[in-house]
Amino acid sequence: MPDNTLRARDEAFWRTFADRYEVQPGPINLENGYFGRMSRTVVEEYQRNIELINRSNSVYVRQRFEQGESQKISSQVAGLIGVAAESVALTRNATDGLQALIRNYNRLQPGDQVLFSDLEYDTVKGAMRWLARNRGVEVIEIEHPHPASFDSLLNTYREAFTRYPRLKLMALTHVTHRTGLVMPVQAIAAAAREHGIDVILDGAHALGQFEFDLNELGIDFAAYNLHKWIGAPLTLGFIFIAPERLADIDPDMGEMHFPVTDIRARTPYSTPNIPALLTLPLVIEEHHAMGGSTAKGTRLNYLRNLWVKPARELSGIEVMTPDDPRLYCGITSMRFVAHADQQPMVERLLRDYNLFTVVRSGAACGPCIRITPGLTTTAADMMLLTTALTELR
Ligand SMILES: Cc1ncc(COP(=O)(O)O)c(C=O)c1O
Repeated sequence: MPDNTLRARDEAFWRTFADRYEVQPGPINLENGYFGRMSRTVVEEYQRNIELINRSNSVYVRQRFEQGESQKISSQVAGLIGVAAESVALTRNATDGLQALIRNYNRLQPGDQVLFSDLEYDTVKGAMRWLARNRGVEVIEIEHPHPASFDSLLNTYREAFTRYPRLKLMALTHVTHRTGLVMPVQAIAAAAREHGIDVILDGAHALGQFEFDLNELGIDFAAYNLHKWIGAPLTLGFIFIAPERLADIDPDMGEMHFPVTDIRARTPYSTPNIPALLTLPLVIEEHHAMGGSTAKGTRLNYLRNLWVKPARELSGIEVMTPDDPRLYCGITSMRFVAHADQQPMVERLLRDYNLFTVVRSGAACGPCIRITPGLTTTAADMMLLTTALTELR
């Protein structure tokens, strides 16, 4: 495998790679943060599995899927993040996993405090507020200063940990969907641990964009999806619970299909998307064959820098996400500073330049336009974006 940095700028290689995907003619998609494309071979495998399960119905599912196949697939998913199979349970998406972890975390007493920041995903914010209503805890909401730096992010947490001594639990997002900011998870989790605060990590956008080691990060509870940067069919995700912390998450709402020592009891018991799950081994094989998260992430970062470097020099454009390599990934947000409302500019990017982007709001730093290249995005697409920003600012 050639050096990832060299390969990241090899348009011929990425064109061959892009040819493995079916792409609808139309706008140039710079909103690849919603979910990822499956390759053609994965689509074909998925279709075969839909037909197989439709033909064989519960006979296959009861005799084969439930008799070991499902667990084998779950082990392969655990392998994606290098953890033991028993520390992973499959879910339908990241949201299901995050909500299950938050609602079943059993170490809260009335009067305790729980914390989240402006950068968390809205459903995570909602689930933490739900804890306040249902567990009698107090919610502490913090905002990160803008522009963010490694130290400002860490210090914001340190100050909150000192100011709110009854904090027991916090939500943390590895890569925020609003600006693509990559949180210094290891430093924040270490500071939280000093104060006896548990962290539930939202890894929805991290998986597949870069490598991480949850043990090194000091994370005991996390949730992921497989349909953003791994390339799986929609409706697949999983949770991670460090085995020694399993007792701190209750079985989900009296769940009793699995023993209390089994992580699968922490998620709702329901009929999963079996054809999608059966497709996962091929998805994971393709992910590794193309160099895994490091190769994907290096390419996405390269594409990101192609537009961010010139955009930084443009008056009238603010790039919201820092350039500290520890703090960014392929997703980066910007705004036209003269406009309070970014939506008309998203519409102009589409109408005048055929570039499809999306407005994200909810961060304390204000609404922005999120630019997310994907694995089929080209350097030429990024040049077109640079031209558009230069002309529209
Ligand atoms: C940061 C973040 N967390 C959680 C989610 C939810 O993921 P899912 O749609 O798989 O539930 C998303 C989805 O975009 C996200 O960006």
